Order: sequence, then structure tokens, then C-alpha cells
Amino acid sequence: MSYLVLARKWRPQAFADMTGQEHVVKTLGNAIAQGRVAHAFLFCGPRGVGKTTAARLLARALNCVKGPTAEPCGTCTPCQEIVAGSSVDVAEIDGASNNSVEDVRQIRERVTYLPQRDRHKIYIIDEVHMLSTAAFNALLKTLEEPPPHVKFIFATTEPHKLPDTILSRCQRHNFRRISASRMVERLKQITEAEGAKISERALLLIARQAEGGMRDALSMLDMVLSACGNTPSDEAVAEALGAIDRTAVQEMCEALVRRQALPLLKRVEDLHVRGADFKRLAEELALHLRHLLVARSTGEAPEDLADSEKKAVLALAQEADPAQLARLFDLVQSSIWDVSRAAQPRLAMEVALLKCIHLAPGTSVSELAARLEALAARLGGGTSTTAAAEGGRPRPSSFRS
Ligand SMILES: Nc1ncnc2c1ncn2[C@@H]1O[C@H](COP(=O)(O)OP(=O)(O)OP(=O)(O)O)[C@@H](O)[C@H]1O
Ligand SMILES: [Mg+2]
Ligand SMILES: [Zn+2]
Repeated sequence: MSYLVLARKWRPQAFADMTGQEHVVKTLGNAIAQGRVAHAFLFCGPRGVGKTTAARLLARALNCVKGPTAEPCGTCTPCQEIVAGSSVDVAEIDGASNNSVEDVRQIRERVTYLPQRDRHKIYIIDEVHMLSTAAFNALLKTLEEPPPHVKFIFATTEPHKLPDTILSRCQRHNFRRISASRMVERLKQITEAEGAKISERALLLIARQAEGGMRDALSMLDMVLSACGNTPSDEAVAEALGAIDRTAVQEMCEALVRRQALPLLKRVEDLHVRGADFKRLAEELALHLRHLLVARSTGEAPEDLADSEKKAVLALAQEADPAQLARLFDLVQSSIWDVSRAAQPRLAMEVALLKCIHLAPGTSVSELAARLEALAARLGGGTSTTAAAEGGRPRPSSFRS
């Protein structure tokens, strides 16, 4: 049997398997249960987040022998044919290559006939924004009042290119980018079922790189598994993705907070040998510092981190001072540009990190104020507030900005 890429092999077969589009799934499920199914749907959203998948599941839900039901059986002939794309009553049309008036006229003619076998005749038109203006106009009348047995499901990544006349005749559902943590859950389930073992950290790296698109995440997973085998180390995954290992980022942030130059320089050396992209490193460090600052300010780790990372982030955030974190973020953030332009990115990165160690304050303004007050009290003859001053954090480095 030929190899089926993960994205196709793991296309959700039930609404319950769709990750991160619960708002859409719930609305569709309710509509089906109440028998209030619209005659035209528009599924909008970024690439690879489940539009086509949801369109097929909706077609199944409507045409399943046991339906209409939000939980199609998956085994009857219509259900199986819809997955295979061979159902006589469900047409999947690519809007990009069938975008002429003539194409729409054909649809218009066929719409008038009853379904050959199933309950509904369903037209799924992908990339619907590619239809020509004339084609849209030809579609309007049918879309306004289609015969009761006909349903349209349009999918597009660019809804703003659709005429208002079309938009107003469809029930619109907005698909979202999938959050990194939800994506990791799904990736975990898939890697386990595939007999592979990848750490949550490494999966998070994939999820983050995919920027909310599940198809991209699964393609990357495919690539990682074929490049590194079934039990890749975190470093191997990072390398295969051309990304920076999460452990490296976490450890470097620890060293920044604790003002330890040596481990920082060692990591840079190591990443240099591995051929890492230092602009990327600077971006990752800035993002991680942002997470630390959020954790320090809210007492909670940001949602898009893996569980294993959340603990480390919270602990490190408590160790640091908000002012120090904010300053570190500023410095690293501004180094991104320097590093990306530098003739020797490694040197630029090293100097930027050393500057961070020397320039970020270790104490917040409020603590300084408390110390000043204590000092003033002491000078003025007071005795009671000295304890507060001594209980403060270590003195800031003498090299301050
Ligand atoms: N929400 C999701 N939950 C689980 N898997 C998903 C989800 N979205 C996408 N996938 C995976 O990605 C693959 C592609 O998804 P799909 O074809 O539905 O994306 P799409 O939104 O139609 O993208 P495009 O805009 O490129 O057409 C699916 O086969 C499935 O493996
Ligand atoms: Mg699609
Ligand atoms: Zn069925």
C-alpha cells in the first residue's frame, strides 16, 4: 500500500475529532439536531484549519442513512463514499479551476434534478473566492432559493474577496487558528498511534512553527519522523525543523535572569556549531521573556505553553523581578534587528546577551523606593524600617543604564 501522508491519514472522521473549532462544530450540531439547517454555508479561515474537513463531515451528517445527524455512522454507503470523494450526490468542486459562468451554469442546471440516491444534493465549492464576477452573478438566483434538496458549502481563505450579495445569502462560520496547546494534544495522540515517541516540548516546537495550521503541523511531523526516526531527541526535532531547541531557550533565559555569562556563551557556541539561525534565537528568547513577564505579572503561565514548560516558566518568573524582565525583553527585542543585519551574527548575539546581563536592573522601582525610605528613616534617627531594606533583593549591578 502506498504511504499516506499524516495530514490525510488523520483527517478527522467525526466532528468530535476536530481540534479547536468547537464553536463551529457546536453550532452545526445544534442546527442539525433542531432541523434548522441553512441551505448555504460559508466556511472561512486560514489554511489547513479544517474547512474542507468540516464541509465533508457536514455532508456526511446530512446524507448519512441514519441522519440527518450530528454523529454520522461513518459506515453506511453515503458516509464511506463522501470520505472517498466518490459520492454521486456530493460534488466537490475546486473554485479555482471551475470559475467561469459556464461552470456555474452547469451547476444551476443539475441542481433542479433530485438527488440520485441520498437525501441531499450537496455542492462543496473550495476556494470559492476564485469565481469570476459573472460566475457569482450566475450563482445568485440559485443561492437565494435553491430547491429544498440542495445544500451549498463554500470554503475560502479570503472571504473579503466575496461580493456582499453572496455573503448575505450564506450562513458564515469563521474557523480559527488552532492554539498551540490544543495542537500539541492532537499531535500527541497521532504520534502515539503511529508508534512514535516525541517529547511534549518538541511537539510544541512543531505546533508553534505551524502557526495554528494543523495541516502544516502534520506535514512537519511527517518530515521529522522521516528525517529522525520514531524516537527523535528534542535537539534532533529542532534541527530538522531549522528551529531552536526549547531547552536551549529556557536555559538561556535562566542564565539571563541569574546573570550567568558562561552558560550563555556556551549555548551560543553550541548553537553556532549546529548552524542555528541567530535571528531566530533572538526572536525565541524575546518570546520566552514575554512569557516570563506575563507569568510574573499574572501569576499564571501563558496558555500556549506545554504543561511541562509552564512549571519552569512560573518558577523562573518568580525568581526574577518584573523590571528586570521588562528590560531584558527590550534589550533582546532590539537585538533581533542587530543580529539579523550583522556580518557576524554570532558576535552580535553574544554581545547583546552580555549587555543584557549588565544592563537589566535587578530591582524594581518600588523596592528601590522602599530602600530609600528605610535609608531616610535611618538617617533621620528611625530604627524600625531597616529590616525592610536588608530584606530586599541583591544590589543591582554597578553597570546600570
Ligand atoms: N481542526 C482540525 N482538527 C484536526 N485536524 C485538522 C484540523 N484542521 C485541519 N486538520 C488536518 O489538516 C488536514 C487539512 O485540513 P483541511 O483540508 O480541512 O484544511 P482547510 O481548512 O480546508 O485548508 P485549505 O484552506 O488549505 O483548503 C486534514 O486532513 C487534517 O489532517
Ligand atoms: Mg480546504
Ligand atoms: Zn452513515
